[in-house]
Amino acid sequence: MAASPTPPAWNRETEPFVELISAEAISRRVAELGATITAEYRALGSTGEDVVVLGVLKGSVIFLSDLVRHISLPLTMDFIGVASYGDATVSSGVVQITQDLTKPIEGKHVLLVEDIVDTGHTVHYLLENLGTRKPASLKLCSLLHKPDRAEREVHIDHLGFTIPNKFVVGYGLDVAQRYRNLPYIGYVAQP
Ligand code: IMP
Repeated sequence: MAASPTPPAWNRETEPFVELISAEAISRRVAELGATITAEYRALGSTGEDVVVLGVLKGSVIFLSDLVRHISLPLTMDFIGVASYGDATVSSGVVQITQDLTKPIEGKHVLLVEDIVDTGHTVHYLLENLGTRKPASLKLCSLLHKPDRAEREVHIDHLGFTIPNKFVVGYGLDVAQRYRNLPYIGYVAQP
């Protein structure tokens, strides 16, 4: 079988991102997370048919797409939209649901998938909100955690990477809605 073509490289001269986590490191960690999550639901006695992987739009979409392919269970997926930042890079602390789930989660094993826990406001609000809908279990999987910025205490059940206090982009994370499709995680280099 022919090797898949390598996508053209990003021009790092005009978009000066410093690579923080490589595409290869992300891919290895996502595979590990998927295996751990699979084992955890199996240990709970779940067949996987009652597992709902719930992505927070839009930042978690790329992470979730890779993660679910490493969870060997017949799960379902749903998405919830939240607004907290607008296009600014500082949290307003106010979280609003802009798009709700398509199905009830009562009695389901819910895995909430986030791109990053920064101040913690978004995930804190979502866990409280989803908890009232009576899921059988509710766990959080976040690709990134920025502990220096924590304003809310949040328990992350499955974490990809802890990162320093830098505004990161790529692999789903944006700056003013751009660069979600960068294959690695980088931060904006200071001139
Ligand atoms: P929190 O409510 O402060 O924890 O922020 C959660 C949301 O803010 C995340 O889901 C991201 O969409 C966004 N966010 C926080 N930090 C960053 C960052 O460094 N880069 C891009 N988006 C971020």
